[in-house]
Amino acid sequence: MSEERYQPDEENLFLDPEEVADFEDFDSNESKLTDDSKEYSSIEIQPAKSQVICIASGKGGTGKTMVAANLAVLLAKQGLKVLLIDADFGLANSHLILGLEPEHDVSSVFTGEKTVSEIIIEGPGGLKLVPGGSGFSELAMLGDEKFLQLIKGLHELEDKADIILVDLPAGINPQVMCLLNAAHELIIVTTPEVTSLVDAYALIKSLTKMSENIAPQIIINRSKDKARAIVAFQKLLSVTQKHLTGKVFPKFLGWVPQNWYVINSVASRKPLVNRHPQCFATACLELIASKTLKRHVKWVDQQTETFVYPSYFAKLEHVVYGR
Ligand SMILES: Nc1ncnc2c1ncn2[C@@H]1O[C@H](COP(=O)(O)OP(=O)(O)OP(=O)(O)O)[C@@H](O)[C@H]1O
Ligand SMILES: [Mg+2]
Repeated sequence: MSEERYQPDEENLFLDPEEVADFEDFDSNESKLTDDSKEYSSIEIQPAKSQVICIASGKGGTGKTMVAANLAVLLAKQGLKVLLIDADFGLANSHLILGLEPEHDVSSVFTGEKTVSEIIIEGPGGLKLVPGGSGFSELAMLGDEKFLQLIKGLHELEDKADIILVDLPAGINPQVMCLLNAAHELIIVTTPEVTSLVDAYALIKSLTKMSENIAPQIIINRSKDKARAIVAFQKLLSVTQKHLTGKVFPKFLGWVPQNWYVINSVASRKPLVNRHPQCFATACLELIASKTLKRHVKWVDQQTETFVYPSYFAKLEHVVYGR
């Protein structure tokens, strides 16, 4: 896999959107979750034991970790077994936002001192966190051997969670793309700024080189108000519809305002939804969590209570073994 950059003139795509989609159309876009189960059926990949949702962005600092940590807390409060994986190994900070002080992190797994299940710690609402560590290595720098070691360790945890959230580092390096491409569901967090939207588009475009028919769930974070968030989503929708026709079906998952409560919760090392449960940003995140929960139910066959898609980690192992 080679790293790809978008063309700088693609920025212009966002300056003058010719086709602005009707807001009413956002949800009429039937959900087309990444369905590559057919592709894998011939190699008999085992069924999933949990739903894996990757949280990504093109540009850094858009609020992925804030969203991932708070979503994890909210879903855990709903009674789901939630595992949050901090995959930002270079600059992990999910534990900070959750107010946790892990003794060990993934660096101990790579040195062979600990197994993945031994580094897990419990967080608010009973969620479980795989802490990412800081400064020792970046996901992008991991060779296939270490990458595979990690995936196998995580695979063993699959049946211990209903939902696994993966907080990814920003950008489109090959490891990130590999993790994203196998995801059952993909959340892209962007701000309304043109630079952030352009990078979100670049990420989506890179994904279409690996698989078609993807339905990223878009969160517009740090927006002044809902109207601006909707306009930002419309721009992204319009550009993907025009330039990646028939390959990408972005869905509006929600928006979060730019506000002081979020900054204060991060500074005080408590999840926003616990520190400021009544604030508007919490209400926005609750809406995002309830939509996520509704979709989660669709992933489970209600009669057999088994997941209807292949295992994320088994797919990843297959991909990494094969290259
Ligand atoms: N809605 C918001 N309002 C105000 N500040 C916010 C909001 N969302 C995020 N922030 C601030 O932006 C900063 C970056 O957020 P966060 O760490 O979640 O981004 P990220 O996308 O995970 O960054 P990275 O790409 O470095 O992993 C945090 O310090 C947080 O306080
Ligand atoms: Mg982050």
